Order: sequence, then structure tokens, then C-alpha cells
Amino acid sequence: MLKVAALVGSIRKDSYNMKLTKFIRDRYKDHMDIKIVPIRELAHYDQDIENEAPASVQNFKAQLSDVDAFLIVTPEFNHSIPGVLKNALDWLSRGNKEMSGKPTFIAGATMGVLGTVRAQMHLRQILNAPGMGASVLPGNEILVGQVQHKVDESGQLVDESTIKFIDDVVDEFIRFVASNREKTSVS
Ligand SMILES: Cc1cc2nc3c(=O)[nH]c(=O)nc-3n(C[C@H](O)[C@H](O)[C@H](O)COP(=O)(O)O)c2cc1C
Repeated sequence: MLKVAALVGSIRKDSYNMKLTKFIRDRYKDHMDIKIVPIRELAHYDQDIENEAPASVQNFKAQLSDVDAFLIVTPEFNHSIPGVLKNALDWLSRGNKEMSGKPTFIAGATMGVLGTVRAQMHLRQILNAPGMGASVLPGNEILVGQVQHKVDESGQLVDESTIKFIDDVVDEFIRFVASNREKTSVS
């Protein structure tokens, strides 16, 4: 079973992005074992302390040491990703560089119409930095705009066309992971 770590860019209690992450985790549980790894408690990245990082950082990195792949789900804050997520990614770009070479797919939900497209463009740029080196699924952007109209009263995603689209992206991601593995075993 593919072991996937999910990082969620919103830490608020009723986060749509957390709901979307849980939806993906539960819907595809027969294909992927998605574990949501919290980023709320992480210390601010500080190069002065990175060699003796605080427990919050050590625990975080330890939980990511043996995952096969990553899922990042983010809102858009001021046309980019939230600082709390950038902070987590900055920690992951140092030391063991836990995302390096790891297949990664991204998703985002917003109440606006553009569905986090600008944040996701920044996120792809960040994940392509030498310290990150994630292997991001090309294309296949899960952009959930006007999310407040696509969930029911309990916050569960119910919009059929969005669900169908996510099904297709997850299929693509599973194929992408398999092709990455073939390339790695050949070389
Ligand atoms: C500080 C801040 C900045 C925001 N900037 C944007 C933005 O640039 N684009 C956008 O579509 N929505 C923006 N929003 C709206 C968020 O996308 C919306 O609040 C969303 O529900 C947050 O995700 P969450 O429900 O997972 O917490 C912003 C919200 C906040 C609090």
C-alpha cells in the first residue's frame, strides 16, 4: 500500500482544505494510506537551530522519514501559500530533505472562484527548488473554487463533477508513482 503523508496549509478548526484532505484520504483508502501530519506546532524555521532542531521539528521529520509520497492541500492566502505551510516546507528542504525525489500531488480549496490557482503556481515553484526536489505530478491541478457551495452541511464534498475530477487525478497520480518506480529501478 502506498504510504502518503498529507500536509494541510490551513490550521483553522473548520478548514475546508482539511475537509478536502479527509475526503481524499477516506475515498481512496483502498489505494493509498494517507496520514495527515500536523504542521501547527512547528517552530519557526531558523538556521541557527537546525542542527539541534526543537522536538516539534524532529517529530515532524521523523513522521516523514519513510513515506512513499506526499499530498499537499493548501488554501490561497494573498495569492500564495500560507506562511505556516511555507515554514513546514522550509524545514523539509534541510537536513534529510524528506521530499526529495518523492512523488507529490497537490490540491486546494478556496471560497473564491479561482480555486487557489495562484497559490498552487507558487507551490509548484517552491517544490522545484533544489532543497525540495519533489517529483510533482504534472498538470492535474485539483482546484476547488467556491468550495462553500460544493460541500453539504457537515462539510463533506458532494459536488459530483469535482469528485469525478479528483478520481481522475488520483488515478493519474497512482500511474505516475508506478512510472517513477520503474524509472528508479531501471537506473
Ligand atoms: C489572510 C487571508 C488571505 C486570503 N487570500 C486569498 C487569496 O489570495 N485568494 C483566495 O482565493 N482566497 C483568499 N482567502 C480566502 C481563503 O481562501 C478562504 O478563507 C479559505 O476558506 C481558507 O481555507 P480554509 O477554509 O482551509 O481555512 C484569504 C483568506 C485569508 C484569511
